[in-house]
Amino acid sequence: MLRLLEPQTLRKACDLARARGESVAFVPTMGALHSGHLSLIAEAKRHGAFVVASIFVNPTQFGPQEDFAKYPRTLEDDAAMLAGAGASALFSPTSEHMYVAGDATRIVVSQLTESLCGPFRPGHFEGVATVVCKLVSQVGPCTLLLGQKDYQQLAVVSRMVRDLFLPVTVVGVPTMREPDGLAMSSRNRYLSPEERTLAAAVPQALRAAEAAFKKGERQVGALRALSLAALGDTLKLQYLTFADADSLAPYADEAKLPERALLAVAGYLGKTRLIDNVVLQTNEASQ
Ligand code: PAF
Repeated sequence: MLRLLEPQTLRKACDLARARGESVAFVPTMGALHSGHLSLIAEAKRHGAFVVASIFVNPTQFGPQEDFAKYPRTLEDDAAMLAGAGASALFSPTSEHMYVAGDATRIVVSQLTESLCGPFRPGHFEGVATVVCKLVSQVGPCTLLLGQKDYQQLAVVSRMVRDLFLPVTVVGVPTMREPDGLAMSSRNRYLSPEERTLAAAVPQALRAAEAAFKKGERQVGALRALSLAALGDTLKLQYLTFADADSLAPYADEAKLPERALLAVAGYLGKTRLIDNVVLQTNEASQ
């Protein structure tokens, strides 16, 4: 049975679980859950007997022109999905709890936030790092599970955990995809049926570069041209960038990729912002 935890009971329930010898696995979310989130819960169960999920639409990670107000809030359905997936507990705090009056602390992770989504979403990763830090501070020592779809978020949170010596092990979980390859996302529900069909071009753009990379193409400009051709004019493109898979520093078109690199894409399809990525690597490099 899914336990609903309050700010006063969250830490105690996690401490009691640890005292029983159960590891705690934590899945932070903003709700509007889909199969991708359930794969995080399934993976969490492999890392901890006590699986806590949080649902909090975090205001500090949305820009003034972004979709905070209309972000889907489906708490009852989400709780039922979490119960069905076998989560132990749900923490769904209020903004007043997470950001107490006079709240003045923010976490800034530099470097990793300077490329990809960073310039297009000023303040976003500061909001993410801050809220994740606030959440894990209440959960206590745990394994933290995040999706690889938000590759830069995963990198930023991992760096914060390392730099601040947080008692947390971060695990990245592979992206879940629809049958046509579209990465699952809570924002996909904003797409009209026509946009939803067009959206398949986004993963196709990644696959086009990936296929050429696996055949030996390393020239960034050539790989980029293949991706852009597959994408067509589907997106109002923000970036389609080849970057170092660890530092997220972009490669210039003239550069040659090493044996492992990130390809990430973001842009708007109508009013919906879509992001996706693939780590390009040869089979040998992934072993
Ligand atoms: O990926 C998300 O849903 C959010 O950015 C997170 C990690 C729950 C922080 O609000």
